[in-house]
Amino acid sequence: MEQRPALLMCPADFFSVRYVINPWMEGNVSRVSQTDALRQWRDLRDILEGLAEVRLIEPDPNLPDMVFTANAGVVLNGRVLPSRFAHGERRPEEPLFRDWFERHHFEVSMLPEDQQFEGAGDVLLDCGRARLWAGYGFRTSLEAHRTLADLLGVEAISLRLIDPRFYHLDTCLCPLEDGFLIHYSAAFDFPSQQRIRDLVPPDRLISIGESDAVEFACNAVNIGRKIVLHSASDGLKQRLADAGFEVITTPLNEFLKAGGAAKCLTLRLDESVDLAAAGFDPEGGVRQETVELEGHLLDGGILDRALDMTADCGGSFKVLDFELGRDHASRSRATIQVAAPAAEVMRELRGLLLSLGARFVDSADEDARLGRVETDGVAPEDFYGTTIYPTDVRVDGHWIRASHQRMDAVIVVDTDAKLPTAECHLLRDLKKGDCVVTGMAGIRTAVPEPESNRAKSGADAFAFMSAGVSSERRVEGAVEKIAWDMRRIHERSGRIVVVAGPVVVHTGGATHLARLVRAGYVQALLGGNAIAVHDIEQAIMGTSLGVDCLRGLPVRGGHRHHLRVINLIRCHGGIAAAVQAGAINSGILYECVRAGVPYSLAGSIRDDGPLPDTETDMNRAQNEYARLIEGADMILMLSSMLHSIGTGNMTPAGVKLVCVDINPAVVTKLADRGSLESTGIVTDVGLFLDRLSRQLVSDGIESRRAGGKNADSFL
Ligand code: ARG
Repeated sequence: MEQRPALLMCPADFFSVRYVINPWMEGNVSRVSQTDALRQWRDLRDILEGLAEVRLIEPDPNLPDMVFTANAGVVLNGRVLPSRFAHGERRPEEPLFRDWFERHHFEVSMLPEDQQFEGAGDVLLDCGRARLWAGYGFRTSLEAHRTLADLLGVEAISLRLIDPRFYHLDTCLCPLEDGFLIHYSAAFDFPSQQRIRDLVPPDRLISIGESDAVEFACNAVNIGRKIVLHSASDGLKQRLADAGFEVITTPLNEFLKAGGAAKCLTLRLDESVDLAAAGFDPEGGVRQETVELEGHLLDGGILDRALDMTADCGGSFKVLDFELGRDHASRSRATIQVAAPAAEVMRELRGLLLSLGARFVDSADEDARLGRVETDGVAPEDFYGTTIYPTDVRVDGHWIRASHQRMDAVIVVDTDAKLPTAECHLLRDLKKGDCVVTGMAGIRTAVPEPESNRAKSGADAFAFMSAGVSSERRVEGAVEKIAWDMRRIHERSGRIVVVAGPVVVHTGGATHLARLVRAGYVQALLGGNAIAVHDIEQAIMGTSLGVDCLRGLPVRGGHRHHLRVINLIRCHGGIAAAVQAGAINSGILYECVRAGVPYSLAGSIRDDGPLPDTETDMNRAQNEYARLIEGADMILMLSSMLHSIGTGNMTPAGVKLVCVDINPAVVTKLADRGSLESTGIVTDVGLFLDRLSRQLVSDGIESRRAGGKNADSFL
């Protein structure tokens, strides 16, 4: 004969609400009706006795929540893992439950003391399969999931709870006979919702709405085809009936005041799984890693970011060791244990932490894993995507630095060379047979240290930018600093690259930028068709998009000026040829041609013309940009979101970025790339260039070489 199911209950003699440890208890302290509670508890017990053997533990007058035996521990195959309560108020229940388990011959295994765990409140056996659903986020720690999976030999699926009203898994999820499962999905974070959907076939998944959820419809005791619960809507009852279940409701509203109902008041003692058939994979479920961080962890905000990233991924962390640098200049060191709910989450988290310079202790001496490219332009599935930071990969025990660092690339290792090399490649450039770094092992990134006080001035720069348009005095201060950097780069023959949009011309900045080019402060110019068109329009016709640059007023017929300019340059065969022929006598592009400063114009869908110089093959344009920013010390991004983002994508860390735009959102987007070296300035770019050129070039006001009057003669 089959054994009857067994449940543990604790009489409600001393049940009440005396403290607040969940939102249901708020406002309910001393509001429980003792007589009602006792009656409700007995009614529940009577119903359950018809379905199972109910065993009792003696209540304790000082422990009002002990009635919720679901939180005593979890029992599987006769082995029990007793709880370690999150709140001090319930901790005195631990020895009483443990004592009961021991007296009743359960095999007791203990979780480590630093792991929180609230028993069957957060761990539920999936009736259809040999696996556990495990909740975390409020009462049970993620690390405990790993431990209990190992101790019980069963896979645990971690689900993160995010609504404090549903602080235990059994308040929002209930596995039923035959692989059915009731759940309230809004109680879980998105990846957990996905995990549930992935594992439970749609015809077995019974999702309920908030109105049923707050009546604790998920907090149900399921034995065979019967479900005992406090309350359920007619709709839910019908769905359960359709699935072949009979619902028995019994009022438990006094217990709802403490945040519990039917399921919380019971603990299953007889659940078992066939461990041999369970096919437990110790690699599955929660993953843990020990991570070392070093540097300006506090003032650089690195520790903060590491911990935030971990939490955002649904992971958890424990700082094992922290050595604080003694003064502003000295470095700190931290050893952190991070846990992630699943292998793929840990992978993502490793990638994020890597970008903070983290070192993974457990895999510190593993070589990078390599995968072969099977098809041109397609990386192995597990490829490592690069960041802007200098990156080393470990090949045959040696760390080698990847060349051509940029983000969103893959690292190709050449092991055939005498000395293996590593290089960042774009996906589209991969060739069949290339060796690509995959996974996360054997990779480390060097996050550049902020120059002393760099973090501070950087933070300053952002502070004034995020407030919107910056005051004149503050722009002036920032310009002084940028001019100082530019002068030093100039003196040591470094490289300054300018990315510019047509607004530079519209706002009257062209003459100032032209002066900077002539004075040798620009080593390359990046832009699109428009900057060149309007710069040349201004040089030849004195207008920019048909607006008279001196008076700021539209010129009659001016909207066609740029087309005539495009036509003229097309006629010459290109900008350089037009300059040589004397058709252009001033402006940014004119100075570039004269000074031999290379420029690259990347086309776009909205271009008129385009100019013969504009590169309309986008892959070629990207390659051109990449070539021109190589070795750059500073990049000035002047009012072109499109071309600036394009440039930012291929710029390695360590290059000083200066982003100027009148729109704060653009500046934030460009400046905030995790690089400590970016400065954002929200201001009119024409005024900015005016001030900057005054700081750097003292050769007096430029005379405009061509004006509107005689321009027509060229056309
Ligand atoms: N007041 C108790 C607490 O907050 C209620 C426990 C309910 N138990 C449960 N398994 N959901 O801990």
